[in-house]
Amino acid sequence: MRAVVLVGGFGTRLRPLTLTIPKPMLPVGHRPIVENVIRMLAAAGINEVVLGLGFKPEPFVEAFPDGVCAGIPLHYAVEPEPLDTAGAIRFAAEHAGINETFVVVNGDVLTDLDISALIAFHKDRGAQATMHLTPVDDPSAYGVAVIDDLGQVQRFVEKPAPGTAPSNLINAGTYVLEPSVLQRIPTGRKVSIEREIFPLIVQDGGLYALATNDYWIDAGRPEPYLQANLDMIDAVRRSASAPAIEPGAKVDPSALVRHSLVSAGALVEAGADIKDSVVLAGAIIRQGAVVHSSIVMGEVGNGASITDTMVGATGNVAPGVTLVHALVPDPTLL
Ligand code: GDD
Ligand code: MG
Repeated sequence: MRAVVLVGGFGTRLRPLTLTIPKPMLPVGHRPIVENVIRMLAAAGINEVVLGLGFKPEPFVEAFPDGVCAGIPLHYAVEPEPLDTAGAIRFAAEHAGINETFVVVNGDVLTDLDISALIAFHKDRGAQATMHLTPVDDPSAYGVAVIDDLGQVQRFVEKPAPGTAPSNLINAGTYVLEPSVLQRIPTGRKVSIEREIFPLIVQDGGLYALATNDYWIDAGRPEPYLQANLDMIDAVRRSASAPAIEPGAKVDPSALVRHSLVSAGALVEAGADIKDSVVLAGAIIRQGAVVHSSIVMGEVGNGASITDTMVGATGNVAPGVTLVHALVPDPTLL
């Protein structure tokens, strides 16, 4: 079976990190998010992945120059302009010539879901479309589904106003679709599968959903992105883990690194204090700098201190400066 992975969004909520690198290429556990996603697809026997690309396709092509990721051949479908989720699915599926049951995954979702169980459920119900659901405390930032005992979706509402969500089960961003769904997606304009197409399929009783308690996180916002990384060293995942300090990272023996990930190609100098943070390839943490609950791609100067802060690849925290809850560079000033 083939899968479409949607990777064409702008990643605005992760600026400044996504100023230089598209969201699905940001590392979780030292590997691009999309590679984590494709490993999960490979485990379910998916034999080709179609990347639904739009914004910044080049880094994907450069990262997988032989057109293979996690052992799976890739097909690149680059949209001429952003078509939104449904438009992107139709474009990618037609580009790759998909005309059989296929899987779709949002390119920022990390989960231990067994996709073969979702496919089996879809076939068993004879569904047009099947969605993976996960319970969350605050559903308002997601698509929310109401299902009956058999898993038939009775209602689907994308990003309901806070306090109005009809359930706490949210769209976890993995679907199994029949090719007939593609015909329902209008061409020539942006179409959202969540706002336009799922409600249509609900009307004729063709949308089903399977709720599971598998590990799940959408890494598209700063806190969950940091959490997704820490989860890889905290052994909370059934099917994935990573070393805290990747071989190839240069960490001075006098630096204190606690509950953090430091990737190959990062430099941590003497006396630095790093805690609950992610230090990515290319980052430089100068002597005595303090980095707490932060994500760093750029440079943190001598003796500087940052907390709850994101430093993009072009970001530079001056020596001695203290920052709390900051973005460097500040994307609103660019
Ligand atoms: N190719 C392409 N073109 N991809 C796109 C486009 C586009 O125009 N717009 C968005 N995407 C991709 C993003 O890159 C991302 O991988 C995926 O589609 C979903 O977009 P997000 O921007 O991450 O959406 P969200 O997180 O607000 O909401 C979605 O995911 C939630 C679960 O994580 C929705 O599907 C919600 O219903 C769902 O609950
Ligand atoms: Mg998302």
